[in-house]
Amino acid sequence: MSDIILGIESSCDDTSAAVIKDGMLMSNVIAGQSVHEAYGGVVPELASRAHQQNIVPVVSEAIKRAGIEKSDLSAIAFTAGPGLIGSLLVGTSFAKGLSIALGIPLINVNHLHGHVLSHFIKEDETTEVPEFPYMCLLISGGNSQIIIVENYNKMSIIGQTIDDAAGEAFDKCAKVMGLPYPGGPYIDRLAAEGDSSKFKFSKPHIPGLDYSFSGLKTSFLYTLRDELKKNPEFIEQNKADLAASLQRTIIDILLDKLDKAVKLHPEIKQIAIGGGVSANSGVRAAIADYCKLHGLKAFIPKRAFTTDNAAMVAIAGYFKYLEKDFCALDIVPFARVEV
Ligand code: KG4
Repeated sequence: MSDIILGIESSCDDTSAAVIKDGMLMSNVIAGQSVHEAYGGVVPELASRAHQQNIVPVVSEAIKRAGIEKSDLSAIAFTAGPGLIGSLLVGTSFAKGLSIALGIPLINVNHLHGHVLSHFIKEDETTEVPEFPYMCLLISGGNSQIIIVENYNKMSIIGQTIDDAAGEAFDKCAKVMGLPYPGGPYIDRLAAEGDSSKFKFSKPHIPGLDYSFSGLKTSFLYTLRDELKKNPEFIEQNKADLAASLQRTIIDILLDKLDKAVKLHPEIKQIAIGGGVSANSGVRAAIADYCKLHGLKAFIPKRAFTTDNAAMVAIAGYFKYLEKDFCALDIVPFARVEV
């Protein structure tokens, strides 16, 4: 009999459901929420309401596209956190209800584990997956972490941001430039046309493997403020060069600590990236180049699996299912980071 897992993701502003059958992806449906565009950021209350509207059609569509019936499911995996608590409650409550109705196990998934394990999502037999232990640079809107992945369920954080995440640096600087939210993808597109050596922004000098991005944000803000006093058209006239220089600085910061981590862990031969910022063209190219130069194997996720998606929740849930690692019905979601 097949092991068929339904994954549900609702940690922020994407409602997603996916089906994994014996480790193979059968469907992955994502409904975004355009309601936040007018506010320049995610409005938690609006996000949970939109999840309530989306969850039933999204789950139905995932089951339909997988070509199965609800009664074929072996277990339900859901994102238990971190994320927005109201959003998480919608997915958690729905998963609980369905698990009771179908009489099948419930599996809690840490959203960050999902990003780290997204490299194991198989769309066909040719998908190449990492070997343990590997190092994962997890860069998203809420987190920037360097993680050693020992196995599917054992991971240790060896470095993380002490303030803003890389995604926040992209988004906050983009906002200062007047770009829509989330600004990361806009910076990525503009950077492709710009000169990355045109502007210099400050880089952090903190010891160890931890990251910091708040100084860069301030330095970016002050540069724009000073230049706008001299020339009110400064941003418009330098958009692409500003984006390229900002992106270059973020990549330099990310790579600097990753390089330190690699040198401290010579046993690691494979580097993976994950999270929304791993969709960035410059980051992807820089990681590929770095790995090539140092004789390491790079795992760069398909763009569809970089931002929030239930395929990664279903695959993380599948590995827990194989270990019979289920959760009780009184489980409560958590908002803050825990790996
Ligand atoms: O992983 P994710 O959906 O959020 C969390 O789980 O926290 O990542 C969202 C972040 C946002 O900050 C967004 O601007 C960034 O990923 N992002 C990008 C790109 N695509 C998404 N940043 C830079 N370049 C991109 N192409």
